[in-house]
Amino acid sequence: MGIQAEEIAAVLKQFGVDYDAFQIETFHSGHINSTHRVDIRYKGVSDAFVAQRINTYVFPDPVGIMENIDIVTGHIRDKLVEAGINPERRVLNFLKRPDGTNYYFESQESFWRVYRFVPNTVTYDKAEDPSILTSAGVAFGTFQRQLADLDMSLLKETMPGFHDTPRRWENLMKAARRDSEGRLAEVEKEIASIEKHRDLWARLISLHNDGTLPYRVTHNDTKYNNVLVDATTGEAVCVIDLDTVSPGLAAWDYGDAIRFSGNRSAEDEPDLSRVKLDLELYEAFASGFIPACRDGLTEAELDTLYLGGVTMAFELSMRFLEDYLRGDKYFRIHRPRHNLYRARSQLALALNMVERLDDCHAIDKKYY
Ligand SMILES: Nc1ncnc2c1ncn2[C@@H]1O[C@H](COP(=O)(O)OP(=O)(O)O)[C@@H](O)[C@H]1O
Ligand SMILES: [Mg+2]
Repeated sequence: MGIQAEEIAAVLKQFGVDYDAFQIETFHSGHINSTHRVDIRYKGVSDAFVAQRINTYVFPDPVGIMENIDIVTGHIRDKLVEAGINPERRVLNFLKRPDGTNYYFESQESFWRVYRFVPNTVTYDKAEDPSILTSAGVAFGTFQRQLADLDMSLLKETMPGFHDTPRRWENLMKAARRDSEGRLAEVEKEIASIEKHRDLWARLISLHNDGTLPYRVTHNDTKYNNVLVDATTGEAVCVIDLDTVSPGLAAWDYGDAIRFSGNRSAEDEPDLSRVKLDLELYEAFASGFIPACRDGLTEAELDTLYLGGVTMAFELSMRFLEDYLRGDKYFRIHRPRHNLYRARSQLALALNMVERLDDCHAIDKKYY
């Protein structure tokens, strides 16, 4: 047995999985954690699990994360059972150890969880077909609705201030004042352009602060590759990759999905004329997401969802600019000025979204 197989064997034992033989296949589609499919045979019966080692560099509070996941998946499971739906495929099922925990670690570097493999599903790394976005919308919208009545005080805010856009702006201003790398002159135009739209990108969080928009459970990584899709029917099965689950605004989840999948060009596209919101893709996601969650959200939430995409694009542009000014400390770069290109591309997307706000709002209204 290789070192990895030995480690996984030890992990399976911790979760009480008995086997006569097992086989491991490593997934290469994820970018953060290390994920393995484990097929076991026990007394002539086959079963399959996913064993995943969490990246504790990216996620420094894995216990907090696993506690959130336990609450969230438990709540969804209860909802499904209440509705008479078999929860096996519709929510990730994490195994528990005899002490009740859904994780096992020997050291920070070796923090594991095991959950049931969901057979006959696929995940897409490219959305060639807009129907993939609709399925993703259904999955994230359903997730939103199932958790709409969860008591938020139960959840830990694992990434405090992550989408506090004015705080992101302040951080950018600090980096600009310091200008440690002498790069400020290069980005003054971009900074001025972002500042001009403060009223827009600060709106969601101020509507939360004044009590208009409540916190909900947000997934915070609403890319379509975090949705299992039925390989036969193309229907959404469930949402995966729950490490970033935290209290937040529904519009952030909606908006980040739009930011990521509503633009056909790459996140670092240097030809800014190609960067734009594609309303067909926007509607593909909206038509899945909004009907799935509208019963769980307030009128004010539904009526501000369309601000999510533009807010997320401005915010990410600020983060790339800040990192560029600080000397590329946070986002790994693959070429000189990479963060500058990323920032410009996200800003171009944000500015294009500003032009299309009314269209986006009108599309949303068709579905709530
Ligand atoms: N329960 C599951 N059943 C089937 N495949 C899964 C399951 N969980 C994860 N996968 C596969 O593993 C990949 C990586 O999982 P994910 O939790 O998204 O990790 P990462 O954080 O690295 O993105 C997914 O894209 C999917 O293909
Ligand atoms: Mg993932």
